[in-house]
Amino acid sequence: MDIYSKPACVIDNGTGYTKMGYAGNDTPQYIVPTATAHKASAALGDGKRDGLDDLDFYIGNEALQRASTHQVGYPIRHGLIEDWDNMERLWQQCIFKYLKCEPEEHYFMLTEPPLNTPENREYTAEIMFETFGVPGLYIAVQAVMALAASWTSKSAAERTLTGTVIDSGDGVTHVIPVAEGYVLGSAIKHIPLAGRDMTQFVMNLLRDRREPVPPEDLLDVARRVKEEHCYVSNDLAKEYAKYDADPAKYLRMYRGERKNGTSYEVQIGYERFLGPEVFFNPEIFSSDFITPLPEVVDEAILKCPIDTRRGLYKNIVLSGGSTMFKDFGRRLQRDIKRRVDTRMEENQAYMRSMSGLQQLTVPSPIEVNVVSHAQQRYAVWFGGALLASTPEFYSACCTKAQYDEEGPRIARHNPVFSAQF
Ligand SMILES: Nc1ncnc2c1ncn2[C@@H]1O[C@H](COP(=O)(O)OP(=O)(O)OP(=O)(O)O)[C@@H](O)[C@H]1O
Ligand SMILES: [Mg+2]
Repeated sequence: MDIYSKPACVIDNGTGYTKMGYAGNDTPQYIVPTATAHKASAALGDGKRDGLDDLDFYIGNEALQRASTHQVGYPIRHGLIEDWDNMERLWQQCIFKYLKCEPEEHYFMLTEPPLNTPENREYTAEIMFETFGVPGLYIAVQAVMALAASWTSKSAAERTLTGTVIDSGDGVTHVIPVAEGYVLGSAIKHIPLAGRDMTQFVMNLLRDRREPVPPEDLLDVARRVKEEHCYVSNDLAKEYAKYDADPAKYLRMYRGERKNGTSYEVQIGYERFLGPEVFFNPEIFSSDFITPLPEVVDEAILKCPIDTRRGLYKNIVLSGGSTMFKDFGRRLQRDIKRRVDTRMEENQAYMRSMSGLQQLTVPSPIEVNVVSHAQQRYAVWFGGALLASTPEFYSACCTKAQYDEEGPRIARHNPVFSAQF
């Protein structure tokens, strides 16, 4: 059997959704909620399971649909695996029920959030090699995969593994500076606001306005309103004024159906632009975290070595479902650029006042570029599928033979990809 002739399996497990498929493809074959369901009795045990439990175990939408009869769990929280037993069973279904492959015959690529612990990498390797017998494994840093995904919008000369990734999914938003494939760990910023919070915010607005949504539908309606109708405005005050002056132009209608077959209508108003405004003015939603995203990005880059900063401002790459709002990249670029330009001007004024000279050599302006690209929604998965289809992937993987010789510690090591293919 030639293992290299079979495409690697690529699985990106996110807080909200698990994306899975084969290397070399453009889109994941399956995208399912990262949720599990089993009979409550099966959960109480001592860690031992029998085959019958496995028959009554579900993942994804199948799990969510069984909320009334089964115990539903979410094994990943804020990007990190927390429930290893259910995670193993979720992977089992991904492999056998969805991808329908023999894990002994495919190399595997999984992903991890920034600052994942070495212990978590070890547990993952243990499950992959010992339970599933995979021949090779690479645990990729999500941000680096997202950078690779943005190459689709660039010429070969522009392909770089230097940039600042803004990965915003369901449970967490990270700002991750990466220089030549290495994550600059001390500069990573974590923002406790992501898709789930924006859905909650839209839900609060609909509820406060007493829109006639059945309570059991409210979360789903709010998520759909967010995904289908929200966009990022340029200026909050002007946006309110536009709606007030011409409501018919901006208001939208959502039509839903109750369980008894009767229909209801929900008017969608200011939440269209207020939802994603949470990124730019977080105080409208949270009193705990109030730093706007453009400021967080700027601060993250300023924490990096000075010789990397121009490259990091020049390639700010978006990744994940919660960066999909219309005009998100445009507003972010404008706001970051404003901060950078203002700082440059202030520095210049200060230098002039200190030196007494009116003419100073002016440094070239800093280019701020926020990259929106075609693969943004599933950027981490797509970047993974791209890199896992190169010969370099196989030499970067940890193999079963290495694992058998050295044990789980081998998974602490994470070779970096070059951008040379
Ligand atoms: N078109 C869209 N506009 C806005 N939000 C969207 C859109 N499509 C999906 N989302 C939101 O993106 C989130 C899911 O994104 P993603 O799959 O990147 O997250 P994840 O990888 O599961 O989570 P995390 O990266 O936080 O662990 C959900 O909150 C979803 O509502
Ligand atoms: Mg994710």
